Amino acid sequence: MSSNGHPTENSPLLANDGNQEHTDIQTATKSNPKVRATVWGSLTVLFVAAIILLVGFESLFGDAFAPWLGKLPKDPHLAALAILDKAPVIVHLPILVRGSYSNNASAVDLESEMPGHVDIPRLRKGKVGGFFWSTYVSCPDPAAAGWDFLGATWKVRDTLEQIDVSKLLIAKYPNTFALALTSEDVKTAVAEGKIASLLGVEGGHQLGNSIAVLRQYYNLGVRYVTLTHTCHNAFADSCGLNSGIIPLHGGLSPLGEVLIDEMNRLGVLVDLSHTSDATAKQGIAHSKAPVIWSHSSARAVHDVPRNVPDNILRLIGHGENKTDAVVMVNFAPFFVAAPGKATVEAVADHVDHIAQVSGKEHVGLGSDFDGIGDVPVGLEDVSKYPVLIAELYRRGWNKYELAGLTGGNLLRVMEGAEKIALELQAAGASPAFDLYKKRRDIGKKRIEL
Ligand SMILES: *[C@@H]1O[C@H](CO)[C@@H](O)[C@H](O)[C@H]1NC(C)=O
Ligand SMILES: *[C@@H]1O[C@H](CO)[C@@H](O)[C@H](O)[C@H]1NC(C)=O
Repeated sequence: MSSNGHPTENSPLLANDGNQEHTDIQTATKSNPKVRATVWGSLTVLFVAAIILLVGFESLFGDAFAPWLGKLPKDPHLAALAILDKAPVIVHLPILVRGSYSNNASAVDLESEMPGHVDIPRLRKGKVGGFFWSTYVSCPDPAAAGWDFLGATWKVRDTLEQIDVSKLLIAKYPNTFALALTSEDVKTAVAEGKIASLLGVEGGHQLGNSIAVLRQYYNLGVRYVTLTHTCHNAFADSCGLNSGIIPLHGGLSPLGEVLIDEMNRLGVLVDLSHTSDATAKQGIAHSKAPVIWSHSSARAVHDVPRNVPDNILRLIGHGENKTDAVVMVNFAPFFVAAPGKATVEAVADHVDHIAQVSGKEHVGLGSDFDGIGDVPVGLEDVSKYPVLIAELYRRGWNKYELAGLTGGNLLRVMEGAEKIALELQAAGASPAFDLYKKRRDIGKKRIEL
């Protein structure tokens, strides 16, 4: 909804089924200040209602009406800019501030040209409207963590520092970023022309083997957790970086299942990027809420463990035995294509493939800018998103499908997870108090020092 209370075609991220626009209209109709209940206001609402009708019948009419609705420019690049203006993309955020600035948020000038792939001028040029601030810290040294993950590491401290620096940077640029805790916050930020900023923890190793830590991260604003990074942890198996990693649990551990239950109850998105195939399958089966892959591409297009295989993509979709999910394509050349072959067209191939197997409503853009060293030809930084959108437009994606790809699909999944959380809480689901079985520092098994 736009800041004046009227939904406009520009403001909401276009949902595929039009349900969200219905909600917006109802809210808008109820909350319109009387002074503003002008003819123009009514016209706006009617205009949006007309779009909903057409979107609602899209399955009947296909894209036949799309040209009437938007009159997109013929030139794919201009069309891409028009689409992105309305439905911004969600990207990963740099952890570069930790490495290059020792977490000194004052020393970071995002208005100037940053060394990596992300700064405010390029975000604006790329029409980015949403941002996943990945509060990532690396896997612990296996020798320090130990085979049971009980060795003391500093991963919880380091994660708190990452959350701290992310929130300080979001607050430092209040005209650019807005912390988003809900799907509604995302829409409000976008309507106000800001970059909606979601915080996520990129690996279960950052949880200190503790579900209570998850709850506290949630209280700090974290809204997605990647079950693993490149290492196994107490909750789940990772796919590692290269093939051949030996599974530890065979997917989720019992504590990993409880972790998902608690994420579902809180409304924290389950992120299956980096997980083993067994973890992903079990995660889909166990989660009551829709899930995401925050930055993974298609294994059938390029065969690396970090990409999602077709047998898992086939579990995603609408209908019987399918789960709602969004696979957000990673741009890292290593995941996209053979060395030297990663181009914007190759990235589009991944998008097309996932769309073909799971459905266009289940693809998104993960990018991983600033989390990756190399970049594909044509997609060098966050300013280049329109080039990818133009390529997909050329391949026949219509504006609704592209609006879904660049944000709407993720928003639908967020809304789904929020709905499940509300239902679970209304049904009286209690917080999980399960402990990691190997811990000896708490309760009756406590070792007195
Ligand atoms: C943090 O950065 C600011 C701005 O560059 C600088 O003045 C300050 O000394 C830095 N703080 C530390 C502790 O390095
Ligand atoms: C869904 O799964 C059930 C149980 O495995 C199976 O009997 C049914 O045929 C499946 N439906 C579809 C449409 O695949």
